Amino acid sequence: MASVSLHNVNKIYPGGIHAVHDFDLEVADGEFVVLVGPSGCGKSTTLRMIAGLEDVTSGDISIGERRVNAVPPGDRDIAMVFQNYALYPHMTVRQNMAFGLKMRRTPKAEVERRVAEAAQMLGVEAMLDRRPRELSGGQRQRVAVGRAIVRNPAVFLFDEPLSNLDAKLRAQMRTELAALHERLQATMIYVTHDQVEAMTLGDRLVLMKDGVVQQIGAPLEVYQYPTNQFVATFIGSPPMNLLKGNVKGGIFHGVDQHATWRLSAADDGPVVLGVRPEDLLPAEGDQSVLATVTPELIENLGHEVLVHFSLAGERLVARIPFGHATGIGQQLPLTVRAGSVRLFGDDEMGNALGSSTN
Ligand SMILES: Nc1ncnc2c1ncn2[C@@H]1O[C@H](COP(=O)(O)OP(=O)(O)OP(=O)(O)O)[C@@H](O)[C@H]1O
Ligand SMILES: [Mg+2]
Repeated sequence: MASVSLHNVNKIYPGGIHAVHDFDLEVADGEFVVLVGPSGCGKSTTLRMIAGLEDVTSGDISIGERRVNAVPPGDRDIAMVFQNYALYPHMTVRQNMAFGLKMRRTPKAEVERRVAEAAQMLGVEAMLDRRPRELSGGQRQRVAVGRAIVRNPAVFLFDEPLSNLDAKLRAQMRTELAALHERLQATMIYVTHDQVEAMTLGDRLVLMKDGVVQQIGAPLEVYQYPTNQFVATFIGSPPMNLLKGNVKGGIFHGVDQHATWRLSAADDGPVVLGVRPEDLLPAEGDQSVLATVTPELIENLGHEVLVHFSLAGERLVARIPFGHATGIGQQLPLTVRAGSVRLFGDDEMGNALGSSTN
């Protein structure tokens, strides 16, 4: 097991694409860190630099105490699991899992013991003599993970390992990976653009956009206190609602004047108010009302209801508990859960302005 540290790492591909900017990250021994962000934001490039599959243009990467910039991939003591599994088609599951160890001239009995142990851990014992094409996608992915486990690496690297699986299998493999991390207590760095995977798997998230780290933090911290509008809308489904407006005398006024909210502390000026769908609640009695809205679409999810509406031309959504009387076209006064309003700058950066403001 080992820590991983990236210090001021940049990647400029031949041709000039600056894929990763000044990347700083300290991954603790045994930690599970998830790199998350939209397509093309530099997640795979970062992971591949840690693996040694891409050169670092500038900066330092260390695994444990050792600077590895010039260390070839095979000597970094890492194991990587890819999206497409990358199993050898002509080999059996057993041979695929044993391959890396054989290359390292591990004694035969030791290879057999480790393959058997990993196969048992992943529930693929019955398939050891099959070839990859005789397996389902989920089983292939288990074998790919097994191949990494038998190596007993200092660091596991995963690049979207579940994205080729259907939703149900993905959810199942997600819990299996979480259990595996619990059991192995290994250092894991996991790339995904799936924010549910990011929220549920990681001890910490690293949110990236255009090669630049936007926020690093525990999943709930990132969810509750996004550093900017991009993070606010990338994490969470449906995303955080954003309402443009102005603060005047401690009161937020939406641009179309249909929304108002008293803030405990805020400077005058243009802002974007952010509120999560589950923090918008039907107002009862004398509760303050943010806005009275007209539902345009109602999605009943059983235990809760997604109410879609528009304010100032923005499509917004409230996630309200099941059982509140509401219907399409019926006016619905909405209040905001205490402490849940976030304010962001109304500029291109859209950075968070202070924390809780109501
Ligand atoms: N070998 C390469 N040569 C030149 N540019 C590349 C190369 N590989 C990736 N890029 C560019 O670097 C940027 C980051 O790519 P990267 O593959 O790291 O993104 P990603 O976050 O993994 O995206 P995805 O979610 O689609 O896998 C993109 O603009 C991409 O086009
Ligand atoms: Mg990628």
